[in-house]
Amino acid sequence: MDQDNFYTMLKNREIMVGIAGGIAAYKTAELVRSLTKKGANVHVVMTKNAMEFVTPLTFQTISGNPVIYNMFELLAGSKIGHISLSDIADQMVIAPATANVIGKVANGIADDFLTTMIMATVVPILFVPSMNTKMWESKIVQDNINKLRDAGYEFMEPASGDLACGWEGKGRMPTVEDILEKMEDIFTEKDLVNERILITAGPTTEFIDPVRCITNRSSGKMGYAIAKIARRRGADVVLVTGRTALPPPRIDVPTIMVTTAAEMREAVMEHFTRATVVIKAAAVADYRCKSQNCQKIKKRHGEEGITLDLSRNPDILAELGENKGKRIVVGFAAESNDLIEHATEKLQKKNLDMIVANDITQSGIGFASDENEVTLIDSTGRTRHVPRLPKDEVASIILDAVKRVIKKKRKVEDDWY
Ligand code: CTP
Repeated sequence: MDQDNFYTMLKNREIMVGIAGGIAAYKTAELVRSLTKKGANVHVVMTKNAMEFVTPLTFQTISGNPVIYNMFELLAGSKIGHISLSDIADQMVIAPATANVIGKVANGIADDFLTTMIMATVVPILFVPSMNTKMWESKIVQDNINKLRDAGYEFMEPASGDLACGWEGKGRMPTVEDILEKMEDIFTEKDLVNERILITAGPTTEFIDPVRCITNRSSGKMGYAIAKIARRRGADVVLVTGRTALPPPRIDVPTIMVTTAAEMREAVMEHFTRATVVIKAAAVADYRCKSQNCQKIKKRHGEEGITLDLSRNPDILAELGENKGKRIVVGFAAESNDLIEHATEKLQKKNLDMIVANDITQSGIGFASDENEVTLIDSTGRTRHVPRLPKDEVASIILDAVKRVIKKKRKVEDDWY
């Protein structure tokens, strides 16, 4: 994918990647590749032990920059000349971070280029630990991590699973996607820290019989993007989602899976009381079968066709709008014609603070696509067109607009009292 298609805080950043001597070092190649694909300029620093697992040549080829591993040949003749790496760095990530490197830094030992650089760097430093479960659980390692956390260093928790040493448990290096998300997170301003945002996404599904169902083409991508970016910006997020093929947006976003509209309503109502903002991106089926067949409907010879008897599902958003109190309620409108007119009608009818209008007839945007083009309409009738952009970026613009609505609504309430 072209790097311009990413919505990322990593573009044009100077990123230092420190690699310590652990078996997970081979996975760091993928991390460096992903960072360069996102437009970051990556400089790799390796310890001597790391070079027992992977070669500097791999990282030099992927990053396009010389790899530093010898403390006594500091950058002589390299294209960044005498400028020290710690001066140009925007962020540093140590992946894998071994018990050894964590222990050294926690105790002030700087005996190679990597540990020296960590101590000389003032920009955020993220440790991505990977080690044997017993080592991870040892009091010494945990004390060192707590000491470094207190000193302002960032840490990720290792993932659980099979470890290279034959053990099973916590100690695996987190996935490249999770590391990248954490790095984006570190660069992102936490401007939604006081909000508790309930988001719905994906399609709902209504069963006709044990085999067949009524559903729609929603992939969930837009709602998942809003959940991810809202959490990145510091909000406390809960996602209620219909069945999608997507992984949860982030490890720290509680994600509740539902199937039918009735199940979605139940999950939404459970979390609605606590929420300050609700964003309903889900495509809810408006009808369900009046009576569900417990057995598969058989095809009968000579029969032209069958008729499904449908009944109305509850309109979850309308119910939220009615009972919203001080909450901000945002809906979506999927329209094939008269976009603004139909969306405005839904906004008014469902008592919303904002609606995101989607023209579903345009190809390459909307359903299942990684991009979207929408129009935002607020309760005063003000509209804002958002051109075709990656869904993460559209999500961020929607959240900017939500922030403006919050500010306006809370100011009006303050003035009242
Ligand atoms: N919605 C909902 N419950 C329903 C139907 C829709 O909560 N039973 C919500 C959707 O999550 C979305 C908004 O209402 O935020 C608009 O959904 P949309 O399908 O565009 O419109 P409908 O209200 O269903 O109207 P229509 O199908 O006639 O366009």
